[in-house]
Formats: sequence, structure tokens, C-alpha cells
Amino acid sequence: MHLLPEHQETYLQELFELLRFPSISTLPEHKDDIHACVDWLEDYLKKSGFEESAIEELYGKGLSRETNHPVLYAERIDNPDNPTVLIYGHYDVQPVDPLNEWKSEPFEPEVRDGSIYGRGTTDDKGQLFTHLAALNYLSEKWGESWPINVKLLLEGEEEQGGENVEKLVTDEKYREKFAADYCFLSDTGFVAPGKPTIDYGLRGMAYMQIDVKLCDRDLHSGLFGGGVLNPANALTQILSQLENPQTGKVLIPGFYDDVVDVDETERTNLSEIPYDEATFLKDAGNARAVRPEEGYTVTESTAARPNLTINGIWGGFMGEGAKTIIPATAHAKVSIRTVGNQDPEKIGEMFKDYVEKITPQEVDVSVDVIHVGDGVLVSTDSPAIKLAQAALEETFGAPVVFSRSGGSIPIVALIKKHLDIDPVLIGYGLPDDGLHSPNEKMSLEHFEKGIECNIHLYTSIAS
Ligand code: BES
Ligand code: MN
Ligand code: MN
Repeated sequence: MHLLPEHQETYLQELFELLRFPSISTLPEHKDDIHACVDWLEDYLKKSGFEESAIEELYGKGLSRETNHPVLYAERIDNPDNPTVLIYGHYDVQPVDPLNEWKSEPFEPEVRDGSIYGRGTTDDKGQLFTHLAALNYLSEKWGESWPINVKLLLEGEEEQGGENVEKLVTDEKYREKFAADYCFLSDTGFVAPGKPTIDYGLRGMAYMQIDVKLCDRDLHSGLFGGGVLNPANALTQILSQLENPQTGKVLIPGFYDDVVDVDETERTNLSEIPYDEATFLKDAGNARAVRPEEGYTVTESTAARPNLTINGIWGGFMGEGAKTIIPATAHAKVSIRTVGNQDPEKIGEMFKDYVEKITPQEVDVSVDVIHVGDGVLVSTDSPAIKLAQAALEETFGAPVVFSRSGGSIPIVALIKKHLDIDPVLIGYGLPDDGLHSPNEKMSLEHFEKGIECNIHLYTSIAS
């Protein structure tokens, strides 16, 4: 199966339209852009075989347009006896800073050197759109009666933790509505070019903010320096006690209690995933050296071991030149990736208790757990995964690699737990796509073949 050139061009132009909405979920000033993006998606679904009455903007219990971004839900059920497919994707994107590092405008997509550049190309609008385009294509082919039932769950705050979709999926009321035989999502990627990949595991996450406060206002550092404890110094003391920089071990007492260690089978599986240090360092923005957790390979450390990361530190004077102050406050964002039976909620509480305990008593500290989400391992021999594997191998002409990813997609564990389906992560990204970075891209070939692969997949489910 190959798409005609005119289909390819149409789908690319439509993707460009979708990419032009700056649907940054975490920044309140983009609320209108989020809604404009949703309106566009609704229109697209109407053009692709979904009735207006079967398309809804959903908010979980206690949530609203004021507090959250809508989950766009659409369904087409022509015959309840046919197999039902649930497709997930997220239409929200990460912020674009630092803007000056972008070679082209983040929200004015363009093709360069065989890749589509722009925020959200691979994470996740480009990948999400491979499914919408496949349905658009199939709706023409299938006409009045679709051989499969389709349910679409399109989230608008994945990059923020996914509160709304969690409220919905955990609500008894929606269990029936979202019920399906298969679930697919494309929000991951190949382990290397030419190596189509299905991830069978994701890490969980707990995301925290630490605020250290000394006083009401910034102080003259000559007049007060030496007389008080600088909150920025206090913060560095706290942060330096979170991880051993040599071994990469997390220093919170009890942190590893619920980790399921990498056993021999897992070790063998993970060692078969292609890994090349030079390529890894290049994909890591030309990082100077690797530093896996002591006792583990880089693949094991990123995929199957927990990790603590400082995502940002700020406070005091950050402009050009010099300003002699003691900052009134200092702050950090810290996230923890969890594995095994580690409960991110419990880990968040442990983190809070530990930070409060190690904070010098001359300053105040507050620790806020911003969001948590479970990690997951899904079955590698479900019928759904076999179908996805066949579609990938036929489209990309290479055997599928089964891998674990260190990233997090909270909905996957929720779908497994509450809807009792093992979702299949059929990802079309590449390791150098630059997710969350400036100059995010998606390979044009992967975009086109992703659409083809999804067409194969849905066609195979139909028969
Ligand atoms: N799509 C990514 C996660 C991902 C990327 C998984 C590549 C596997 C391979 C997703 O949008 C993401 O960025 N998730 C966040 C977590 C979320 C709770 C903020 C992450 O992993 O940091
Ligand atoms: Mn994503
Ligand atoms: Mn992301």
C-alpha cells in the first residue's frame, strides 16, 4: 500500500495547519489557542467520517473550561459486534523557550532536509495526525459502513500531567464509554533509524517544586551577607543531598524499597536493544560523557531504573552584569522517574519529608507535589501487539525491536488499570527528534509511512 502523492501533500498541508496552533498547555496565555486547536480537530473529524453529535469536549468531575483543557472524544460505532479500537494522542505541546535557538519559527512549520520542523511535530501532533489521516483515508474507502468501531481520546494537557483525562478514565461513568478491544497510541519512537520499535514499558513520575524563603525582599549583600543564611545557598545544600553525582543513586532513605530490579531476562532483553555510545551522546546534544547509575548500563539506567532530575533552578539576580543582593527566595523544580512498584504519590511524599528534614532551620521551605503518574509494563504478546508488529514490519521492511522507554505517558497505566486493555505504543519518532527542545522535528518519511502503517493496522483489524 502506498499513498498517492496528492494524498501525501494534502495530509502534510493539514498537519501544518494543526501545527500552527501554539497549544502550549502549561501557559495560561495560550488558553484560546488550545480551544482554536480543538475546533480545528473537530472540523477535521467531521471531514473524516465522524458525526458532529459523536464528538464531545469532555471535562472530568469538578473540572471545567476554566480549570482545565478539554479531552476531545469522538466515536463511530457502525456495528457493536465489530472490533472496537481506542486511539489516544495529545494535541498540547511544550513551551518553546529558548526561542532564539530555533532555526525556523516553532509554530510556522517547514520541511528541511527530509524533516518537518516545528513544536509538536513528533510530540505529539505529527504522530497523532498519522492516525487522523489514516482514518480520513479509510473513511473514503469504507464509505457508509465501517468494519471497525473507532473511539478517539485526544488529550490537551499531557505535558502538564494529564489531570482531566485521569479524572475521566478513573470515573466509573466513563468506563463503558471508553471500552474497547484494542488501544493504540503513537507518542514514542524508534530506538534507531530503520528499527521500528514497540515500547512495552514507560517510567512513572512525580514532579515537585521546592521554594526556599529567607525574608520579605532581596537584601544588600554587603550589609547583610554573613549575618543571615542565603536561601540560594540553602537550596544548593538541599539539592546536593538528593543524588550522589558519582553513582547516580538517589539519597532519599527508602527510595529503592519498591523498585523491581533488572533481572537476568530483562538484562538480556535490554542488551539486545541497539545502543551506540557515540550516537547516544550526539542525540544528547553532544553531551561530554555518559553517567549511568552505578552497576547498570545506559539502556538499563534510562529505561528500567528510577532517576531524580533537577529540571530547573532559579532565584536572585539573573540579568546581565552584577547586582549585589541576597535573594529573598530560591526555587527548584525536581522530577523523579519511577519504576516497578514505586508509587509516585508515595515517592512525592517521601521527597517532601526528606527535603523538609534536610533544610537548614534558618530558612523556610515548602515542597509542592505538582503531579504524579504511574509507570507501566504492558504485555508483549497480546493480539494487538502482534497486529502492530505486522503492520510496522510490512511498512518499514525491518523487524520490530521491543524496548522500554524512560519517558512517561500517564494515560497508559490508567487505560491498563481502569479499562483493562494493554495499550500498544506504536511510535514513529526518532532519537534525534528533539522532543521538548528547540528545533523539534519529525522525519517526513516517518510521517508518511506512519499514516500507511496505521492504514495497514486498521485494515488488518477489520479482517
Ligand atoms: N511523548 C512523551 C513521552 C515519551 C517520549 C515517551 C518518547 C517515550 C518516548 C510525553 O509527551 C512526555 O513528554 N511526557 C512527559 C511526562 C508528563 C507527565 C509531563 C515526560 O516524559 O517528561
Ligand atoms: Mn508526547
Ligand atoms: Mn512530551
